[in-house]
Amino acid sequence: METRVDQARADRGAGFDPEAIAPLLLQWYDAHARRLPWRKLPDEGMQDPYRVWLSEVMLQQTTVAAVGPYFERFTQRWPTVDDLAAADDADVMAAWAGLGYYARARNLLACARAVAGRGGVFPDSEEGLRQLPGLGEYTAAAVAAIAFGRRAVVVDANVERVVARLFAIDEPLPAGKAAIRFSAGQVTPEARAGDFAQAMMDLGATICTARSPRCVLCPLRTHCRGLVEGSPERLPIKAAKKAKPVRAGRAYWIEREGRVLLVRRPGRGMLGGMRALPDDGWSAKGDGVHALAGEWREGGMVRHGFTHFDLELQLMLCLPSQAVNLPEGEWWPVEEIEAAGLPTVFAKAARLAIAERTD
Ligand code: ADE
Repeated sequence: METRVDQARADRGAGFDPEAIAPLLLQWYDAHARRLPWRKLPDEGMQDPYRVWLSEVMLQQTTVAAVGPYFERFTQRWPTVDDLAAADDADVMAAWAGLGYYARARNLLACARAVAGRGGVFPDSEEGLRQLPGLGEYTAAAVAAIAFGRRAVVVDANVERVVARLFAIDEPLPAGKAAIRFSAGQVTPEARAGDFAQAMMDLGATICTARSPRCVLCPLRTHCRGLVEGSPERLPIKAAKKAKPVRAGRAYWIEREGRVLLVRRPGRGMLGGMRALPDDGWSAKGDGVHALAGEWREGGMVRHGFTHFDLELQLMLCLPSQAVNLPEGEWWPVEEIEAAGLPTVFAKAARLAIAERTD
């Protein structure tokens, strides 16, 4: 049943034919698609669902440019989903280090193992993909469309921006997401749904950019209500974000004969299962400082933003000769610290410690 809200949303799009959008955009994509390591261009044959899935999971973390080297490394080391499924958890976590949000790496492995359990074959529909561990609405839609050519409404931040402008949707996000999704559905074609999704992403990344959209180059400019209304760059409107809480903690650089003590974090919780510098659990009180080492001096401060809080991590440089109760761990060669797969917050701390330590 159509509700008043649906009707209002449909009216917003009145005055232009939503079906005119896809042909224009696909024509533009045929000429301007970006060459990306995971992408097959329209004339390059079948997509590999494993590569599509892997790239989409990575792309939820960070930018296209930052994902490139990670994607190359993963696919060289684990060329198929079965290879990834058979990998050691710790190796995958270390290879993921720097991409952030490590729960996603654990889900990645769980999903690879579920697919391997199905003979290495991904489900070929959005509903089937949603059954896999860790596959949310976005990833299922993206893989269904890009790998299997299924019509699916794929909405990431780039698509959100393009659609908000195209339909002049000024309801602030996140409440406006429903209207944006509805309108994205109106312009999504049956055929070439994967190319369409990627074309929307490319348009958002290269032309319909956040700050200074290059509307004169846009294949959709004659249909864009945001442009007609005069200032497309103000869309989408975002509700003011709540300030994140700040947590404080200490991390310890304990060095002996060119080696530094690294621990493995507990499997559950923040950065679970990752290698790390020993720390105090990031409680605001800094408990445990004296329990770790007998003689220490303050290094610099590492600041790092997590999803739900900002962390101020005081670096402590310790002399192990006086240390008591050292946690169990491995003594890692300092000059090979880059290969330890430290999550970003500890990689920052390690760089700072190396710059500050006295030989
Ligand atoms: N961002 C997320 N997925 C993408 C893709 N397949 N192509 C370009 N940008 C993307």
